Amino acid sequence: MIRKYVFGRPFETGAVEEQIGETQGLPLYGEIHSEGSFLFRYVMRDGDAVYGLGEANRGINKRGYCYVSDCTDQPNHTEDKRSLYGAHNFIVVSGEETFGLFFDYPSKMTFDIGYEKTELMTVSCERADLYLYVIEGESAYDVVRQFRKIIGRSYIPPKFAFGFGQSRWGYKTKEDFRNVADGYRSNRIPLDLIYMDIDYMQDYKDFTVNEEEFSDFPAFVAEMKERGIRLIPIIDAGVKVEEGYPVYDEGVRGGYFCKRKDGSDFTASVWPGETHFPDVLNEEAANWFGDHYRSLTDQGIEGFWNDMNEPAIFYSQEGVRELQQVISSCQKMERGMADLHKIQQTAGGLANAPADYRRFYHSVNGQKIRHDLVHNLYGYHMTKAAAQAFGRIAPNRRFLLFSRASYIGMHRYGGIWTGDNHSWWSHLLLNLKMLPSLNMCGFLYVGADLGGFGADTTKELLLRWLALGVFTPLMRDHSAIGTRDQEAYQFGDTEAFRSVIETRYRLLPYLYSEYLKAVYSDDMYCRPLAFVYPEDAFACGVEDQLIIGDEIMIAPVYTENARGRYVYLPEEMRFMKFMKDGCYTEQTLGQGHHYVEIAVDEVPLFIRAGRCIPLVDAASCVDEIDMRTMKVIGYEGARYERYDDDGIHTDSQVTRTIESL
Ligand code: GLC
Repeated sequence: MIRKYVFGRPFETGAVEEQIGETQGLPLYGEIHSEGSFLFRYVMRDGDAVYGLGEANRGINKRGYCYVSDCTDQPNHTEDKRSLYGAHNFIVVSGEETFGLFFDYPSKMTFDIGYEKTELMTVSCERADLYLYVIEGESAYDVVRQFRKIIGRSYIPPKFAFGFGQSRWGYKTKEDFRNVADGYRSNRIPLDLIYMDIDYMQDYKDFTVNEEEFSDFPAFVAEMKERGIRLIPIIDAGVKVEEGYPVYDEGVRGGYFCKRKDGSDFTASVWPGETHFPDVLNEEAANWFGDHYRSLTDQGIEGFWNDMNEPAIFYSQEGVRELQQVISSCQKMERGMADLHKIQQTAGGLANAPADYRRFYHSVNGQKIRHDLVHNLYGYHMTKAAAQAFGRIAPNRRFLLFSRASYIGMHRYGGIWTGDNHSWWSHLLLNLKMLPSLNMCGFLYVGADLGGFGADTTKELLLRWLALGVFTPLMRDHSAIGTRDQEAYQFGDTEAFRSVIETRYRLLPYLYSEYLKAVYSDDMYCRPLAFVYPEDAFACGVEDQLIIGDEIMIAPVYTENARGRYVYLPEEMRFMKFMKDGCYTEQTLGQGHHYVEIAVDEVPLFIRAGRCIPLVDAASCVDEIDMRTMKVIGYEGARYERYDDDGIHTDSQVTRTIESL
């Protein structure tokens, strides 16, 4: 049962696809104040759990902290950070009363879930202009499935996007890319994708390729594809200000950039220096920007990652002017520490400044809308613009596409990577915890920077993180410029890395099948144990194990120097460990607590009682997987319905085959 309440004059975000009539009056749950600002208040019971919020910090159960939906370039996301790159305003209260809430509101919104007062949940925003959807269901999982139905079908990437990808900020030349390809191929570690970070461009200009380093780019793209590797370039939100650069000139001429109040194009400094932001909320501008992806698809490119689209701002001209004023007011140097603080504070506040987000406007259906009022939609609309353009460029073809910033609704157009994490063990666990929350909000094609983006990784951390990445639809190793080399062949023990990454390919028919099932039935690809075993009080509290698809449970190792870990089995399961040379061990474990040994080069998983999964031989890339090598592992007599399709066309027929043991 879904009820839709309307407050004030909401902005049409397009998050919900289904037409739902308005319900008059006030929701059954909680209390609402909607004069001027908006406040929802609910008193939680002791045992209530609260799930959701997609890409957010902390636990699967969100109780106890305060989260702010405000798409933010947050490269240092320590535990105390309240906003990350996405804004996903869907939560489910699960307990004596079970219901879901979706606050369709595209600006900043605060979710205090027992932070100020342990028992109190308050959801608030500055303006009472929003749609509130209240969903009643039998269980949290039931609520999620109802919600997923109304927000529309999730994005399906091409099958090659389920292969392993290598990325690094700092690959600059053909040689750099060839070295990566050689490193993987010569060590016989599978690889499907190499990501091109900003250095492939000419002066960080979108839709350009550095001609000097990448002469005859189409031939280079083809050379890589010959080797079974797709190149996936980055596209940033900001278009460099430079006369004579066609994208800039066209944008200015067409009036396609976001404007200041006085009608001039707003300027923000990002990687290329001064940039303008395409007004992707404006249909004409979005079409124009989207059509530019053609310049790269025409050269053989089949996928992109959209970045800096919160949009991130290093500083604006206005911000720098304010800083100059502060510095000159301090020039007498009489106040010492106080002046230093003021300067530091002003300089520190230049990036992603709320004041800047109030300085520019979008033009939507003839109306000027100040950016901060629709801030959380920018990455969504940039990605939608690209996806819709692909529909024009090559109808019927799937492209790989994922974004850094997002809002619910974007899940229909692309995936997400979860931004600039660090090479910290805590971020491995955060990666795991975010996965089901993202799925609740429709985002199925998701993944984190495996090994960690910022700071130096270690061999052990990377191996353990890859062993989780085996199960995330987007499996990509990415690292920041200046950090230690992080490719899988950089640590000597290539056998261990080969074995872990090969496991991804061995399981690919299962993972892809479960992904398709989740998409076509508006379901979750990975679920917390609480959604699968709601009657099992212990299972409901487990935050470091997940159910992937319907047949298996994972329990990755996420602590340093561990030789194994404790795991809780809500039912009997077959414990499998995947090892080198295509070997595996299996052991039946009864319901309850166990300590299982897991070496650093092993990938563990648990097949649920009475189930089975398909397994194939590893291959160097997805296209090379030989389905004739398929066998079925798990419980005798079990049957598995395997979904598959051609992996490349949007209208490809799904085949369903029964595999049995
Ligand atoms: C941002 C992205 C990161 C990328 C870097 C350079 O920090 O999040 O993935 O490597 O920009 O483009």
